[in-house]
Amino acid sequence: MERTRWYKDKVFYQVWPRSFKDGNGDGMGDLLGVLEKLDYIKNLGCDGIWFSPIYPSPGADCGYDISDYMDIAPEFGGMEAFRKVLEGAHARDMKIVMDLVVNHTSDEHEWFQKSRQRISPYTDYYIWRPDPGNGKLPNNWDSNFEGKAWTFDEVRGEYYLHLFAVKQPDLNMDNPLVREEVKKILRFWLDLGVDGFREDVITYISKKEGLPDDHLFPIYKGMPHYNHGPHVHEYLTEFKRDVLDHYDCFTIAEAPLVQPGQALSYIREDSGQLDMMIQFQCMCADCLFTDYLPTRFHLRKMKRAFSSWQYRLKGRAWNSLYIENHDHPRIVSRYGSETFWAESAKMLAAMYLFQQGTPFIYQGQEIGMTNWRPSDPDMYEDVQTRYHYAHSNLKKSPGQRLQALWRSSRDSARTPMQWDGGENAGFTTGTPWFYVNENYRQINVASQEADSNSILNFYRKAVKLRKSLSCVRYGVYREHFPLSDKLYMYSMTGERQKILVVCSFCEKPLRYGVPKGFNLDTARLVLCNYPGPNQRVLQPYECKVYLWQ
Ligand code: NOJ
Repeated sequence: MERTRWYKDKVFYQVWPRSFKDGNGDGMGDLLGVLEKLDYIKNLGCDGIWFSPIYPSPGADCGYDISDYMDIAPEFGGMEAFRKVLEGAHARDMKIVMDLVVNHTSDEHEWFQKSRQRISPYTDYYIWRPDPGNGKLPNNWDSNFEGKAWTFDEVRGEYYLHLFAVKQPDLNMDNPLVREEVKKILRFWLDLGVDGFREDVITYISKKEGLPDDHLFPIYKGMPHYNHGPHVHEYLTEFKRDVLDHYDCFTIAEAPLVQPGQALSYIREDSGQLDMMIQFQCMCADCLFTDYLPTRFHLRKMKRAFSSWQYRLKGRAWNSLYIENHDHPRIVSRYGSETFWAESAKMLAAMYLFQQGTPFIYQGQEIGMTNWRPSDPDMYEDVQTRYHYAHSNLKKSPGQRLQALWRSSRDSARTPMQWDGGENAGFTTGTPWFYVNENYRQINVASQEADSNSILNFYRKAVKLRKSLSCVRYGVYREHFPLSDKLYMYSMTGERQKILVVCSFCEKPLRYGVPKGFNLDTARLVLCNYPGPNQRVLQPYECKVYLWQ
């Protein structure tokens, strides 16, 4: 089938379903709520939705532990509600992308239940190892979430591997039967009409033979033996050849710690097995590898990340662009400033929306939602956060440990969407499943709808502008003044059009120059986050987009 690569012209909105909008008053976000808000998403300028998992799941990792891949969870409205959302989206010319989580399942999945009882053909669906005895584990790998990567199963009398939570056993992708199951899942959703998949930690699916100990990595022990493992390209090629190639769909792969050069082996347009990658480098300007090792924010590190992906992929592959998702705290509280809240939230939007690639906007990002800061560690829901609180930084006081979580926890960005200033922020008429951020009276959609200068309206303008500019889709990216630690400036140059994007990351006024060949007197200022005359001094967190055509 001819692939049209329609995803290059789209802007996606990520729905983290539990916290988006409750349509039936049970306190949990659901697809009825999504249906109500399809026009809101479309009016933002987004013409695609990525749903974090909405399948049946015990919820040990908020849906990333799936117990049935071919159904929609009843709490989200079941298959009937999903069909309506799909129809409603397609009627509005919007695409729907599902989360494909096949590195692991829930331990409550039928496959695991049968595998632990050695019932054929499920016996080798998972990665089982005998007990080595003497209190030893099959190897020294860490789970990405909680403790070691092995748990002993009393029923089977063996250890199983779980790179994430104890309730998320890893599938054995080396088993051809498991790969057939993955293909069945892909076909099922594609036949129903979905338009693509975001593939969860897909670079982890092939583990090195023999599962050797890791003597290299100080944290996430084992990762060199399962990230980009020996058969990953082979398996992805099989999924593409047998299924994906037969549909006009697209895939975006989540890939922890991937660098652009390595990404190309997956997403080169002439030879790759996937279409885009969710890389993490752009999210590591204020931490080392993970949000749990925070550092001061380094603008140059952030610029290097964005630029290297722009340069390396140009003409070979297509970028995905994001600054928030359900796995990271809120961007305005990290790379921006809560003091210059509206200014910095808008600047961050302009900073990434004009680069080459397909942008993703995470629910609440478009109104500048900030980090949630609970008063008690027991208020956290996330399995990773709870483990981290209980086991890390034990030399620090409980207060210090709690504050560290405000900056690091995924729950900082998982509170219910703030729709209005009424009860429960308009998220539900029932009791919300999770805490609403206390600042919902100041930060909410309704108040920003009413204000033409709001962050929400800035996003709308920025997305519309992006879509009107051919140089963003076809032009050449170039970063200017890369050594500045206060200013991020880049241009996109097309055949008959070019733009210059100027972003201050500084809390003080900042004088700036322009690179050769960019005469501001002949440019049109097409986007800006401050009113007033066009000065050569940037106000705190000011951004400007200039256009020549
Ligand atoms: C990445 C997902 O984005 C995250 O939310 C999840 O916990 C892990 N993969 C495990 O599935």
